[in-house]
Amino acid sequence: MKEQVIQVRDRALAACQEADSVRELEDVRVRFLGKKGELTQILRGMGQLSPEERPVMGKLVNEVREEVERALAERGEILAEAELTRRLSAETLDLTLPGRRPQRGTVHPVNLILAELERVFVSMGFEVVEGPEVETDYYNFEALNVPPDHPARDMQDTFYLDGGFLLRSQTSPVQVRVMEKQAPPVRIICPGKVYRRDSDATHTPMFHQVEGLVVDKGVTLGDLKGTLMELSRVLYGDRKVRFRPSFFPFTEPSAEMDVACVVCEGTGCRVCKGSGWLEVLGCGMVHPKVFEMVGYDPDEVTGFAFGLGVERFAMTRYGIEDIRWLYENDLRFLRQFHGR
Ligand code: DAH
Repeated sequence: MKEQVIQVRDRALAACQEADSVRELEDVRVRFLGKKGELTQILRGMGQLSPEERPVMGKLVNEVREEVERALAERGEILAEAELTRRLSAETLDLTLPGRRPQRGTVHPVNLILAELERVFVSMGFEVVEGPEVETDYYNFEALNVPPDHPARDMQDTFYLDGGFLLRSQTSPVQVRVMEKQAPPVRIICPGKVYRRDSDATHTPMFHQVEGLVVDKGVTLGDLKGTLMELSRVLYGDRKVRFRPSFFPFTEPSAEMDVACVVCEGTGCRVCKGSGWLEVLGCGMVHPKVFEMVGYDPDEVTGFAFGLGVERFAMTRYGIEDIRWLYENDLRFLRQFHGR
């Protein structure tokens, strides 16, 4: 029996040395020291030994067991380290490899202009407010002194919704909403989307406006012109602008501001429809009827208002010939605004 134990020991130690991986080594452990392992079997067979032999054999088996355990542990350490080294070299990262650059988007030209407009007006003391895009007839038309038979209400122009609602065709209703809530003085701009059933080189069914409103005692047409000339100076530098008398139901007198056509520089082309000018905003002195609708006293206060087309500003600012380019999302077009 003693020889048997020595044999098992020699085989176990040899198997330890031969094991090539942590996993193989674990198999060795099970084969010799596991519940049904060779050494365990010998221990179980000790019942048949004589009482004198038993302690001697017990001691020997335990010594062998410890020796095999030590060999397993030593070999285990070597194998684990080798495996770690192998993994580390296989999984190395080359830190000098240039990274893959994420493609960066660009700010849309309409948003560029919106941000610029807000900056100009905020610097002049205006507050930025917003209003709903789904409006009622009252705010979009009636309160702005647009009579029921006015052509602006035509089904051709306005998107009507069920339940007496419509998509606002202008940002002007926000003027009314602000004045209803707030006593004068008022000095606000309202940027936002507006909708009209229109589509050609200079019109899209959805576009952006920035509405402006200033109400206080003694506000004059001179203030209106001064404010808009300052706007034009900041945005267009010395590009020519002109004011032209016009009509809006909610202002009296009314005017429109034109900018010299960016495409033809004033000689006349498809974009300016031959006139040499592009209309960029409507404006005027707030009509007394509008003040009465919101409970302001037209004998006490006066005011001016304007509504400018953001896409028109983008077109005239960047020389964009067709408004639809702004909404086709052609990357070749959009990328030109990188870093502006
Ligand atoms: N709402 C007008 C439009 O969409 C633009 C406009 C003109 C707004 C004169 C105003 C204004 O506030 O005073 O054509």
